[in-house]
Amino acid sequence: MIIANWKMNGTKQSVATWIESVSNNMNKKNMNPCIFCPPTCYLEYARSLIDENDYHIEIGSQIVNHSFEDESLTGGISSTMLKDLRIEYVLVGHSEQRNFLKESNNVITKKIEKALEDQLSVIYCIGEDIDTKNKNETYLFLSEQLDLLGQLQSTHEDKLSSIIFAYEPIWAIGSGLNAEKDYIEEMHEFIKKYINDDLGWGHLDIYPAVLYGGSVNLDNCEEIISSTDVDGLLIGGASLNSETFSKIYNLS
Ligand code: PGA
Repeated sequence: MIIANWKMNGTKQSVATWIESVSNNMNKKNMNPCIFCPPTCYLEYARSLIDENDYHIEIGSQIVNHSFEDESLTGGISSTMLKDLRIEYVLVGHSEQRNFLKESNNVITKKIEKALEDQLSVIYCIGEDIDTKNKNETYLFLSEQLDLLGQLQSTHEDKLSSIIFAYEPIWAIGSGLNAEKDYIEEMHEFIKKYINDDLGWGHLDIYPAVLYGGSVNLDNCEEIISSTDVDGLLIGGASLNSETFSKIYNLS
């Protein structure tokens, strides 16, 4: 699974150009899902272009909101609205939203629950900051982020297989400094083992994909995707250029 996360970039015109270019350049024999996450305001436009042309690109939303006790939320986008637009995936827990929007664990859990109830696949983003890494506390940090999902086990067990994980060390996002292969392998092994043993998903026969994100580019993508336990890539900056993104997709 290769995901283009455009963040707050692009125009209506660049969305159309990108979709057409990626679709023309992607190797159709590659069965890896290709997922485009444009800004929310272009989701419906992207959906219609992909449908009209029968392109093999799926769509994800960068955001979903949740309001507690059905309180009103000006500017909010619900998972029900995303489902209405036939959006297939949603990113939840991205570090930029945790940090800048002060998204709490409680809110993240509710978003995941509601998205699953609306039959969306959730890409749950986790990853440590540089201080945590330097203090050798990454395992503890990641396990706390993963523990959030423990709450879903009793209520949403039948939907857990719709969760995909994205490991994105915060210090690697947008910095040009991707994590080294050994480090990525170590973290992915830890995450998979924790989900399997500590969250107990292994007993449920659920073995979710774990993607890597953080300064993936054309030069490092082959090494990263070939790393043990890496099941895909979440790409920000390098996804904006359709040719670069198509090449990365074709190499994966
Ligand atoms: P980056 O962003 O590829 O620009 O580092 C990744 C992400 O934030 O998902």
